[in-house]
Amino acid sequence: MASRRAADELIASGAVRVNGQVPPASGLLVDPEKDRVTVNGQAVKPVTRHRYIVLNKPLGVITTAKDESSRTTVLDVVGDEGKGGHRLFPVGRLDADTSGLLLLTDDGDLAYRLTHPAYKVAKEYIAFVTGNPNTADVETLRKGVKLDDGITAPAEVEVLRITPGSRESGIAEVRVVIREGRHRQVRRMLHAVGHKVQSLQRVGFGPLKLGRLKAGGWRVLGEAEIAALRRAVDQMGSPKAAPRAPRK
Ligand code: URA
Repeated sequence: MASRRAADELIASGAVRVNGQVPPASGLLVDPEKDRVTVNGQAVKPVTRHRYIVLNKPLGVITTAKDESSRTTVLDVVGDEGKGGHRLFPVGRLDADTSGLLLLTDDGDLAYRLTHPAYKVAKEYIAFVTGNPNTADVETLRKGVKLDDGITAPAEVEVLRITPGSRESGIAEVRVVIREGRHRQVRRMLHAVGHKVQSLQRVGFGPLKLGRLKAGGWRVLGEAEIAALRRAVDQMGSPKAAPRAPRK
């Protein structure tokens, strides 16, 4: 209901109560599911009824809401506390052997847009690969690589670190940002230019960053992050150009 600064001023003025009490000046963590927040006696409602959490998916965990063969899923990792009483599902997927940022929500409309190729949401990965990619490899990756399901769209590619050695030896750290979501795309792109991926982590999804979240850790998105996600898929002009989730 207010900018961060205006909210600070409202709190300082004594207009804000949490469960009927004036919050301490040192701050108070509010649980929107449980706590009642008022401003001048009026209840403040969260902007959305949905829940959005980011998980740092550990290796070996399956990106699905339910696994037929009872392997550990991302929902097992976040547990009841992470679900917070919502029927969360993963937005897009990461391979079992990929770790990193995965958004979970029960907001079907936003999830649909975030994963629809028309919105070209950026997905940022850090890969460790065998061999030091040369300039030609990087150029090919940037412009588009021929894979068995077609040429990839332009990507951002940066070699962050190389180890002494040749194009065949050593290990390099590579940052790749793609705006598509084909099956094992980053691994296949790097493999196509001669560099096998040894480890892969997603560190960014649209405006979201993994940050310091440890493997298996999760956090609830703040209002500003949810608004940024909405903006990321809200830039298309005509309704025709902007696909919406089909209504059930
Ligand atoms: N690309 C891959 O190869 N694997 C993933 O999990 C995500 C992108």
